[in-house]
Amino acid sequence: MVSALSEEIASSDHKVVVVHGGGSFGHVVAKQHGISSEVSEAPAVGVAQTRGAMYELDRMVCKTMMEYKLSPYPFSPFDAVSRAGRLQVASWLKGLLKEGLTPVTFGDVTLTQSGFKVMSGDVIVQELSKTLAPDRAVFALDVDGVYEQNTRVIIPELSPSKIRRMGVPDGDDATGGMKLKLDVAAKIAAAGTKVCFVSGYRRNEFSKAVRGLDFYGTVVRS
Ligand SMILES: Nc1ncnc2c1ncn2[C@@H]1O[C@H](COP(=O)(O)OP(=O)(O)OP(=O)(O)O)[C@@H](O)[C@H]1O
Ligand SMILES: [Mg+2]
Repeated sequence: MVSALSEEIASSDHKVVVVHGGGSFGHVVAKQHGISSEVSEAPAVGVAQTRGAMYELDRMVCKTMMEYKLSPYPFSPFDAVSRAGRLQVASWLKGLLKEGLTPVTFGDVTLTQSGFKVMSGDVIVQELSKTLAPDRAVFALDVDGVYEQNTRVIIPELSPSKIRRMGVPDGDDATGGMKLKLDVAAKIAAAGTKVCFVSGYRRNEFSKAVRGLDFYGTVVRS
């Protein structure tokens, strides 16, 4: 999936910031140590192993991106989002994009005042959208879009208010599954960025979503 999507991003000639999730790398290790999006008293070894897995995955993602003609610039979301001011981060990212780099970041484990928690890729997309106010935020999924409740029927278009009325059960990953993704999408769309949910296995649909064209999947806009 990473190779096909990298190729589509490269050939689109659009300026893109990439955020990847944890998948089988981050979530599994996090769960073993009781680390989730809720603050917990995680053991140091669990924090180290979870972050280690994420950095390992990030290394693989960036290597593949380079094979497919992108120039990734990996950064820790914690450093960028939590520590520096929003305007500073925005101009830094825009500077990287202007130089032809593709900033890449990922879900991470962060220390809060009361313990460790996972900052999921979805929340990072929300933060970055607030920071950069992009035209679009594209979520590449392992499903074709957002399903109507208890069916496999794709909902072509959603609004923030419609999302708030939907009942979506919590996922079983470390960070909230589709429910969190929809909550995040509602906030991003309410701020004026179009949100696209598209299958990461359908490179042509993904490519259309990245380019701002109609695609098979779900669009969220206010
Ligand atoms: N209404 C729904 N429409 C579509 N998918 C749904 C819905 N409800 C639950 N899901 C599940 O949510 C999953 C996507 O969320 P999930 O958090 O698992 O993926 P991810 O965030 O892309 O990956 P990861 O969290 O592993 O990095 C889909 O694979 C699907 O099984
Ligand atoms: Mg998830």
